[in-house]
Amino acid sequence: IPESLRDALHAAPVAPVLTIDDAAQAPALAETLWAAGVRVFEVTLRTEAGLAALAAMARAVPEAVVGVGTATTADHLKQAQDAGASFAVAPGHTPELLEAAGRVGLPLIPGVATPSEMMRTREAGAVVQKLFPAEALGGPNLLRSVADPLPDITFWPTGGIDDSNMAGYLGLKNVLAVGSSRMAPRAEIARADWAAIAAKAEASLETARA
Ligand code: 3PG
Repeated sequence: IPESLRDALHAAPVAPVLTIDDAAQAPALAETLWAAGVRVFEVTLRTEAGLAALAAMARAVPEAVVGVGTATTADHLKQAQDAGASFAVAPGHTPELLEAAGRVGLPLIPGVATPSEMMRTREAGAVVQKLFPAEALGGPNLLRSVADPLPDITFWPTGGIDDSNMAGYLGLKNVLAVGSSRMAPRAEIARADWAAIAAKAEASLETARA
């Protein structure tokens, strides 16, 4: 992964997973999260507005590291790169997606759920991986169990992670950061409730650094 992404995750080890229905809200959302201390934004392709929202967030806060989430096809990678994404996150991986990431030149954090998937994506060059859905799969216990057999893989888990359980992940030597949609829930973005999102983002970062 790019140094800029690694540094940003070290500085702010919780990254919001953002689902945005109206790209017009993206600039205010980006400014709110950045002011709260968030340094990495993952904008999902779960809405029609996803790509436009990603581009608007990247334009609004050029210092932020902006990536695309829910990237499942080669087309997604190319479109996201054109929109300004500097990395991509996927809920899983396929041979096509891994190949496309190399061809397009967009760093991909592939979703993994088992040691075999971790080994397979490592062979494709992915040394930072997304354990997903982390809580459902066993959470910190799973990651602790693979730390010694797969010591060169670092994880950025998501799925069911919030302020109540993130410490269990961030205390592990093979966890770089966590991702969560709870910091900026889709409904609060839709309501433009920037005060609520700022408060949640500050609280999450404080918990993460503790
Ligand atoms: C993701 O795509 O990473 C997840 O939807 C985030 O999981 P969460 O909604 O449980 O935080």
